[in-house]
Amino acid sequence: MHHATTEINSVEDAARKAITDNLFAPRFYTTDFAAMDRINVEPVRAEWDAMMAEYEGDNNHDHFQRDANFAEEARELAHKMSPELRQEFLDFLVSSLTSEFSGCVLYNEIKRNVDNPDIKQLMEYMARDESRHAGFLNSSLKDYGLGIDLGNLKRTKKYTFFKPKYIFYATYLSEKIGYARYIRIFRQLERQPELRFHPIFRWFQRWCNDEFRHGESFALIMRANPHLLRGGNLLWIRFFLLAVYATMFVRDHTRPALKQAMGLAPTEYDFDVFRITNEITKQVFPILLDIDHPAFRANLERLFTCTSKADEGKQAGGLLGRLKQAAWSVAGAAVFVRMYLLPVKRNELPATIRMQPSW
Ligand SMILES: [Fe+2]
Ligand SMILES: [Fe+2]
Repeated sequence: MHHATTEINSVEDAARKAITDNLFAPRFYTTDFAAMDRINVEPVRAEWDAMMAEYEGDNNHDHFQRDANFAEEARELAHKMSPELRQEFLDFLVSSLTSEFSGCVLYNEIKRNVDNPDIKQLMEYMARDESRHAGFLNSSLKDYGLGIDLGNLKRTKKYTFFKPKYIFYATYLSEKIGYARYIRIFRQLERQPELRFHPIFRWFQRWCNDEFRHGESFALIMRANPHLLRGGNLLWIRFFLLAVYATMFVRDHTRPALKQAMGLAPTEYDFDVFRITNEITKQVFPILLDIDHPAFRANLERLFTCTSKADEGKQAGGLLGRLKQAAWSVAGAAVFVRMYLLPVKRNELPATIRMQPSW
């Protein structure tokens, strides 16, 4: 059994996985720094300053250090992992590391290239947090002898240019959905600690509070610049919401063992995460996806089928494989468009923007 493109058995596999670029992989971004410089947070100054004080207080400064037992606990629990689960866990570590590190690189790039003191300071704090998160994940990969050379990853990975507003929509969502995913897992393993197959999950609560706060920063930026939240931009918000939700659904169903080992059914887990994320995004987006619409769920399942079939074609290779891949990719795109056209819910934006991570 040799699936060279998906299986992680060596540092090279892990590194290749980390730099592979496909539709559903985390990417590295760069942006228009002059436009970033023009961002004005004066309309939300009081909430902004309170948030910056939290960053400065840095209540997680000592959180991302492994205690003496960590590696031993990881070794002891390793027997609970089937080979399939182990693969999915490694895949989880690598893709999480990539997205933490791509956040770190992006925030650092913006910090280095802007003069706007509010944005510069914010980016410095967020890069600090993401660098801790990435380092923490990398030390768990190193337990398996699979540590990733982050400097090399930064040099080899391709960069995608994104306008600042796309950065705001996409990054806001990925921070908030990151919070929702981690807190859902943390709560589950709090209830059923016997299902915790690796010590890293004990770190998730305070970890995801960092992500929650990162999301708050982008919420404030968007609310301070309300043109980002109306007119044609609503179509972009709709697009990013759907892209982020659909990507997550497909990825989670491609590796179901990870959630199943925690006693979570992938579809229910994903819908819980959608529900939490929908609640949170009420702070900033005037529209919400109708996740309870029957066609929403049915189309996500269809999208997963299309993606799996396209993958099968890719694995098979040859002319027929490529045709199969192409046909199912087109079918997948059509499903995505159908979902994009489903009715959305309107949302009245609250006067107080900030929220507490209370899930
Ligand atoms: Fe992070
Ligand atoms: Fe983050």
